[in-house]
Amino acid sequence: MNFNYFWAMPNKETFKIKPIKDILEKVTSNQDLRIIDPFAKRKHEFALLTNDINENNDTHFNECASIFLQRFEDNSVDLILFDPPYSLRQVKECYDKIGNSLTHEESKTFFSNIKNIISKKLKKGGLVISFGWSSVGMGRSRGFDKIELNLICHGGNHNDTIMLMEVKS
Ligand SMILES: C[S@@+](CC[C@H](N)C(=O)[O-])C[C@H]1O[C@@H](n2cnc3c(N)ncnc32)[C@H](O)[C@@H]1O
Repeated sequence: MNFNYFWAMPNKETFKIKPIKDILEKVTSNQDLRIIDPFAKRKHEFALLTNDINENNDTHFNECASIFLQRFEDNSVDLILFDPPYSLRQVKECYDKIGNSLTHEESKTFFSNIKNIISKKLKKGGLVISFGWSSVGMGRSRGFDKIELNLICHGGNHNDTIMLMEVKS
C-alpha cells in the first residue's frame, strides 16, 4: 500500500483541502468513469451525481445515502466518494438540523449498513475513497484491498483527515 503524509490548512469542505483536491483531480480525470458521492453537501466537479440528506444542500438528490445508492444497479459504479459524518455524534448533529432522529438500533449499524450497500453497487475493480478519522475503510471482509493511504495533518488542535483508497478485488 502506498502511504503519503501531507500538511494542509483545515477546511470545512473536505474536497477543498489542497492535497485532497489535487489527488481527486487526478483520480477523477477520466470522464468515462461513473463517479457518485452519496454524502456530498454540494455539487462538485469530481462526481457525476451527488446526494445529501439535507434538502438545504445543493446536490442532485436529497435522500438518505442508503436510498440514493439503491438508484444504481449492483456492480455498476466505478468510483464512490465516501465522505460521511466522521462520528455518530456528527451524524446526530446532521440529523438534528433536519429534524430526523437516529434510534439507538440504527446508530449501531449506520456505517456498516452504508458500507455494505456501497460494496454491492461498485464494479469489480472499482474504487472507494473514504474520508474520516479512521483507516478501517471497507475492509477485507467485504472484499476490498487497501491501495493508498493519505494522512493529512492540519496542525494545532485539529484532527488529521485520513483519505483511504480501496479497490474491490
Ligand atoms: C463530511 S460532510 C461532506 C463534506 C463534503 N464532502 C465536502 O467536501 O464538503 C457529510 C455530509 O453528509 C450528510 N449526511 C449525513 N447523514 C446522511 C445520510 N444518512 N445520507 C446522506 N447524507 C447524509 C450531511 O448533511 C453532510 O453534508
